[in-house]
Amino acid sequence: MSSEKPVILTCAQPSGQLTLGNYLGAIRNWTTLMDDYECFFGVVDMHAITTRYVPADLRANTLSCVALYMACGLDPHRSHIFVQSHIIGHTELAWVLSCLTPIGELQRMTQFKEKAAKLGFKVAEGDDEGVRFAHEGARAQATINSGLLMYPVLMAADILLYNAKAVPVGNDQRQHLELCRDLAQRFNQTYSDTFTIPEAYIPKSGARIMSLQNPLAKMSKSDENTQGTLFILDSPDVLKKKIMSAVTDSGSEVRNADDKPGVSNLLQILAAVTGDSIESLEASFEGKGYGAFKQAVADAVIAALEPVQTRYQALISDKAYLNDVLQKGADAAQKRAYKTLAKVYRKAGFVERPRS
Ligand code: TRP
Repeated sequence: MSSEKPVILTCAQPSGQLTLGNYLGAIRNWTTLMDDYECFFGVVDMHAITTRYVPADLRANTLSCVALYMACGLDPHRSHIFVQSHIIGHTELAWVLSCLTPIGELQRMTQFKEKAAKLGFKVAEGDDEGVRFAHEGARAQATINSGLLMYPVLMAADILLYNAKAVPVGNDQRQHLELCRDLAQRFNQTYSDTFTIPEAYIPKSGARIMSLQNPLAKMSKSDENTQGTLFILDSPDVLKKKIMSAVTDSGSEVRNADDKPGVSNLLQILAAVTGDSIESLEASFEGKGYGAFKQAVADAVIAALEPVQTRYQALISDKAYLNDVLQKGADAAQKRAYKTLAKVYRKAGFVERPRS
């Protein structure tokens, strides 16, 4: 692999299961990047401990996420697949960056405020001091740990450690990427030019898949109503049941239209898995009604996911192979990470470690 190719990096948390939305809207598009970029695909287990979790589940989910990445088409021979905690440098760089980050900037992050609110804290917009927390009495279930606040700084470190030029992220991560760019610039100005300023990578065609139960909200792996979410590893029976009971709209025409968000979403899904255009699908379902249409969507989704599921089962039961992949990924990632970290430490004024 040539090291002159620009670097692309993206990561996923090993929490919950990946959805059809993750697959069609993100992962499947990453597979097209491997020829033109040097790709780093990370599973960020250290981010996953910022909210409540069970250690045994984290361990299993991390390996499952690696296997699923590969089942979806990421090729360990043409990219570097790694686990964040295997690499020395993510938290080290995050520390240095945190010393360039005012607390207020982190307290104002949308995702932090949402997660804090979920824990039962009311986040009050304050004066220049930033944001204050008000206990909501009985609803507060836990304290907010400082890791949750630091989350975006660790994410910035993930990206800058590899000097990534482009970062495929969903809309919900835009603000975090913006902070990463600010931190890169701030470091470059405070010390000297070191980091590439990363840009969001927007795929040319990325389907935006919505919940089957609420087609106005994105399909999410953390949705409490799992009936609206198609997981990549759902069995054919479950997929079919969820699709047949998807919310549709009044009328009976299969048409892509603003006043038909449910039907439009199913059309998007069908188009994404078959490769057919929306127009040709509309034409082929003319006069056929919702029942036949949903049946066709279910059949197509099941057929599209079947090879992914088969590959996943083979991979997850071959721990030795997964270990090989992760070792190779860690070696390549660590090499690049050490380079950046050494540079950062030198610029920050840390005395070089004496060698024997
Ligand atoms: N915060 C991202 C998410 O939840 C995951 C993430 C962590 C990430 N580090 C990253 C994404 C670096 C891209 C680049 O989706």
